[in-house]
Amino acid sequence: MTDQTTKPVAVVTGAAGDIGMAIATQLSETHVIAAVDIDRTALEGAVEELENHGARVAAIQCDLTQPADLVRLSQEALRLGEVATLINNAGAAAALSLHQMTAETLSRDLALNLEAALNCFKTFEKSLIVCGAGNVINIASVNGLSVLGHPSYSAAKAGLIQATRSIAVEYGKYGIRANAIAPGTVKTQAWKARQEANPQVFAEALAWYPFKSLPEPDDIAAAVSFLVSPAARCITGVCLPVDSGLTAGSPSLARTFTQSADFD
Ligand SMILES: NC(=O)c1ccc[n+]([C@@H]2O[C@H](COP(=O)([O-])OP(=O)(O)OC[C@H]3O[C@@H](n4cnc5c(N)ncnc54)[C@H](O)[C@@H]3O)[C@@H](O)[C@H]2O)c1
Repeated sequence: MTDQTTKPVAVVTGAAGDIGMAIATQLSETHVIAAVDIDRTALEGAVEELENHGARVAAIQCDLTQPADLVRLSQEALRLGEVATLINNAGAAAALSLHQMTAETLSRDLALNLEAALNCFKTFEKSLIVCGAGNVINIASVNGLSVLGHPSYSAAKAGLIQATRSIAVEYGKYGIRANAIAPGTVKTQAWKARQEANPQVFAEALAWYPFKSLPEPDDIAAAVSFLVSPAARCITGVCLPVDSGLTAGSPSLARTFTQSADFD
């Protein structure tokens, strides 16, 4: 799809993944979608699904960690119209401890989970300013708020939350809002290897969540849709956990501390 449109353009990175697909689907109600992913085959499937859903969507295959790809991304996305909304959703974690981490795995985690998001923001900076009401949503993680393993990914996501505040503070004068979302455990393809290693992984994780239901991709997408909407007009620079209460506290620890059966 290459025609101009009156709908603003939303760039959704990692759009072939489960959370990215849910975000693109919900945002397609109000936006033309530039669906970005490194995985060409998965991206083609996602775009077909989005089109079946009635979305106006263009597929842009690129590796967000490669500067040359970002130049091409900019050219292809701007062909659709001004980019008013940028969703930095692409991300992945190396499941390594600090002891196992190497300089190479650290660089990889920082490049995808922090640098690519900031470079994407710079790529669409002018367009976000020109549209007068730009929105940037960075998909961070509860790992950026607390230590839950994956140290280099956590450092990158913590950096992404701080980068979100930096955008909000410096670009608010242009009408740009920037917010982060910190999902808890969401059952997506990113968990495939861990679920194969331990089929109980989600049941075990759920035991730590105060609200006894794990967030789903649509729950993350609903938070994105809200933060991008005029209803969130004065919300900027925040990190919204969509984590079923994980970062609020732990019922089992509260039970230990109080010895009260009310915490269960
Ligand atoms: N699933 C969870 O439990 C969870 C929890 C907290 C945060 N998150 C965050 O949510 C976001 C989406 O995660 P998900 O679970 O849907 O993962 P996913 O693996 O389903 O999707 C991620 C997508 O990003 C794409 N991608 C990876 N590297 C890329 C690159 N260099 N260039 C372009 N695209 C690239 C992948 O091909 C994939 O389609 C990530 O930022 C992740 O860190 C996920």
